[in-house]
Amino acid sequence: MNQDQLKTLVAQAALQYIEPGQIVGVGTGSTVNKFIDALATVKQRIRGAVSSSEASSERLRAHGIAVLDANAVESLALYVDGADEIDPHGCMIKGGGAALTREKIVAALAERFICIADESKYVPVLGRFALPVEVIPMAAQQIARRFAAHGGVATLRLQGGQPLRTDNGQHILDVTGLCIDEPLAFESEVNNWPGVVCVGVFAHQKASVCLLGTAEGVRTLR
Ligand code: 5RP
Repeated sequence: MNQDQLKTLVAQAALQYIEPGQIVGVGTGSTVNKFIDALATVKQRIRGAVSSSEASSERLRAHGIAVLDANAVESLALYVDGADEIDPHGCMIKGGGAALTREKIVAALAERFICIADESKYVPVLGRFALPVEVIPMAAQQIARRFAAHGGVATLRLQGGQPLRTDNGQHILDVTGLCIDEPLAFESEVNNWPGVVCVGVFAHQKASVCLLGTAEGVRTLR
């Protein structure tokens, strides 16, 4: 199976966690797009979704699935999202699709985070994938210097030659050269730096379950 087929496999496997009448937290990315398409096949059974990006909201609505405001919901039973990396403890790097801030907000509403990923995302230690960090533009250079003190190299993410603007109107730094062997402590530290909107380490909101697509089928990691 190729990577695309593995993504389809785990996206469909995530449907087993959905119960009638639920409002489903929905992430962002190519794996989640497949999940949204799968969710459309059971849309009569759910009340709607809380979405983590404009792109996912658009896809959900195109399928006729109601998109609710996160403020209208006190809690969610589950949140389904992909990852750029996931370690054996369920800690993740996310934000390859620039949606990390809203992803963390919706994940924080949910009792369970169901991560759907192909096996290329499974790593022993986080840090091979460049860490996305959403920042207030005027703080970008001082945040880059703080990462340099950790051995990281921060690069401003561009789109069409211009700094990418997130759904929240902010910028993204992608940081290479990090070895994130204490994700909880690292996430807390970076969150405290002025100008950081959100760091793409998901350790406080780690996955409860990971459905990993492998050549042998779906592996469930808890
Ligand atoms: C978007 C994300 C995605 O979940 C992550 O980038 C994985 O994406 P894909 O499923 O396309 O590999 O964090 O901000």
